[in-house]
Amino acid sequence: MFWTTLTALFSLFSRLYPRGRIEHEPLRLQFELRHQHAVSPDAHIVFADIPQVPTSAFTKGYEATYSIATKRLSAFRPPSFPAHEAARIRSMRHAQSTDLPWYEDDIIGPDVEDRETLLELAKMTNNAYVTPDDAAWYALEDDWHDRYPFGWEPDADGIRGYVFATPDNGTVVLSIKGTSTAIWGSGGPTGKKDKLNDNLLFSCCCARIDWTWTMVCGCYRGGWKCDQTCLGQALAEEGLFYPIGTNLYANLTYMYPKANIWITGHSLGGALASLLGVTFGVPVVAFESPGERLAATRLHLPSPPSTHHVTHVYHTADPIAMGTCNGILSSCALGGYAMETKCHLGKSIVYDTVSNLSWAVDVRKHGIVSVIDDVLSRPWQASSDAGREVPVAEPEVDCMTCYWTDMVCDKECFSWEFGEFPPELVDHVE
Ligand SMILES: *[C@@H]1O[C@H](CO)[C@@H](O)[C@H](O)[C@H]1NC(C)=O
Ligand SMILES: *[C@@H]1O[C@H](CO)[C@@H](O)[C@H](O)[C@H]1NC(C)=O
Ligand SMILES: *[C@@H]1O[C@H](CO)[C@@H](O)[C@H](O)[C@H]1NC(C)=O
Repeated sequence: MFWTTLTALFSLFSRLYPRGRIEHEPLRLQFELRHQHAVSPDAHIVFADIPQVPTSAFTKGYEATYSIATKRLSAFRPPSFPAHEAARIRSMRHAQSTDLPWYEDDIIGPDVEDRETLLELAKMTNNAYVTPDDAAWYALEDDWHDRYPFGWEPDADGIRGYVFATPDNGTVVLSIKGTSTAIWGSGGPTGKKDKLNDNLLFSCCCARIDWTWTMVCGCYRGGWKCDQTCLGQALAEEGLFYPIGTNLYANLTYMYPKANIWITGHSLGGALASLLGVTFGVPVVAFESPGERLAATRLHLPSPPSTHHVTHVYHTADPIAMGTCNGILSSCALGGYAMETKCHLGKSIVYDTVSNLSWAVDVRKHGIVSVIDDVLSRPWQASSDAGREVPVAEPEVDCMTCYWTDMVCDKECFSWEFGEFPPELVDHVE
């Protein structure tokens, strides 16, 4: 049975990829699960090879091969990662911008106007939450209405997910797990680090909401003052997700030197995918990501001439992606998450589930399963009516955040003053 499937798949690949052909025209790619990656507590990246097409939980409804339509696109890449890192640090430490000689590369990316392609990528991000042999998946799906259907037992406490590759290693997809689990439950072993990263990446100032909150970095300087340099350093500290992600990416290019690499992720994983995508100039599809534009600014990521190779996909009933899960009584804050950002990099495909499916805004709709089962699995009427498969991807120009506490909309974190506030010059820090 297994070999029959494999043989069938192989003949399909041979048809699509005649031997020796290097230039592929945009067409459908098929992916196989190749490695799972996890980061051990000492931030050493571990790739575990998946010995064969996984069975059991992994294949139930979420099959182990993924078919994706491609299209040509261009992305800007830094001359090298060390050059990028040097420019980033120069900007952060000395407020000097470097004219990084980005080069434009013509690459094959996922066709984000194709609904099934988005669906397949979403499934890859979903599977980043479970291990291929994890039976918990079924149990969770059964009580979907009672509690949030994520929860698994990883043995590592950091960034986690899978690597998928085409049989010829021509295209490799890195799929990164997000946080969602932790909002309603303990979140398993990764919950704590996920939460720390969420609060660092998506809060205005170290998750300083009021005096009852434990801040996640030491950049708060009393009143509404926050030290900018301190924030940049806090986000790039070793052991946090951005630097681990760049390390992971480097590792992947080492393993697959000729591959086209794409990155995908859900929630925090999507935000991370985007930050890595604008760093390395690779196609990204991020699902239900909180606003990561501010984090990119704080990390002093050199900005490429265009970030249009990054596509966000989210819907209007998800308060996390919409940037409305803020205010001390929001479900995010009650869970200990200071989700205060809203604006995304690149382009966004926004499904108006509030208008078109009459969904109420609910943090439970943030889950990738809602997106897979209820949004992407069937034709989207509002788009079909316009002769398209998916909503138009558009950059978020004039992006504003609405803070529930003040009932006002303004630029992100507008009530804060960010600047150089060295701790020794500040008399009283609460
Ligand atoms: C693809 O890459 C893997 C390493 O991850 C290697 O073992 C395999 O031989 C490669 N396959 C091809 C067709 O190059
Ligand atoms: C990638 O990770 C593997 C497994 O931890 C390690 O053996 C290898 O040296 C790493 N490669 C790079 C370039 O870091
Ligand atoms: C979807 O919602 C939009 C408003 O966002 C509306 O203009 C459109 O008619 C709706 N389409 C369907 C099919 O409900």
